[in-house]
Amino acid sequence: MNSEVLVYEKDGGIAWVTLNRPDVLNALNMEMRDELWQVLHALHDDPDVAVAIFKGVGEQAFSAGADISEFGTAPSVVEARRARRERDLWGYMLAIEKPLIAAIHGFALGAGIELSMCCDLRIAADDARLGLPEVSLAYIPSAGGTQLLPRTVSPGLAMGLILSGDAVDAQEALRIGLVQRVVPRQRLYAEAEALARQLMTRGPLALRYAKEAVTQGLDLPLAEGLALEARLARLVLASHDAREGLRAQREGRAPQFAGV
Ligand code: COA
Repeated sequence: MNSEVLVYEKDGGIAWVTLNRPDVLNALNMEMRDELWQVLHALHDDPDVAVAIFKGVGEQAFSAGADISEFGTAPSVVEARRARRERDLWGYMLAIEKPLIAAIHGFALGAGIELSMCCDLRIAADDARLGLPEVSLAYIPSAGGTQLLPRTVSPGLAMGLILSGDAVDAQEALRIGLVQRVVPRQRLYAEAEALARQLMTRGPLALRYAKEAVTQGLDLPLAEGLALEARLARLVLASHDAREGLRAQREGRAPQFAGV
């Protein structure tokens, strides 16, 4: 399923998804979104994929955002709305139950940082610059940025970044919690892979429900979030994975999980 603009590779349980338009700093055009839609379904459906890592080709960028050259090229506003309703790319990505990691280097702007915020974990190289510059184009973030950034960093910081359009560097992104780790550029993919492999040693059902509890719980009143957690905890506790995890710990061996 590899296209020129998006490369999908599998390696021992990890799906690597590579944005591949280096000449335009991996700007997300329509073709790339179409491919991403296919790839997201593939990694969602594939039982051999446990974790996915998203990255960008080239020296300069993870992704410099939506392809500006395509702005205003949709046949009509009605058509653009219809396409978005029928294919909720970012909504689909956010609902994927498997852990998603973004390995970010260079620029991650606009839809680039938004794509990374649809992932669960973000590792940044020390050269990363992240921001939502849309207002400087008299536009607003529209791949989830206005909703995801305030849920990722504090609402005040998010508002400041969205209204200014300013980018932050990797250290600032770490300080405000926009990324979870900063590593030297040359270590980026090795660190992302090590993180993916660490996740793969955890119970897959536990990972899935922990992700669900956190992401869904963020949109719920506390009492409902706690009820959701209790329900998911009961399900995990009754699973083969939980029994096997405990048994393996007692016996001092690596657990053999059944998978999801
Ligand atoms: N869409 C389409 N093409 C883009 C792009 C985007 N979002 N971002 C960069 N490119 C293209 C440039 O047009 C340029 O193409 P060219 O060589 O044919 O002229 C190429 O990528 C390299 O970019 P360039 O601007 O020359 O690199 P730079 O190092 O001087 O600047 C950025 C890098 C990221 C600061 C600058 O490219 C930029 O501001 N891009 C737009 C970012 C943006 O607003 N994204 C949000 C869109 S909603």
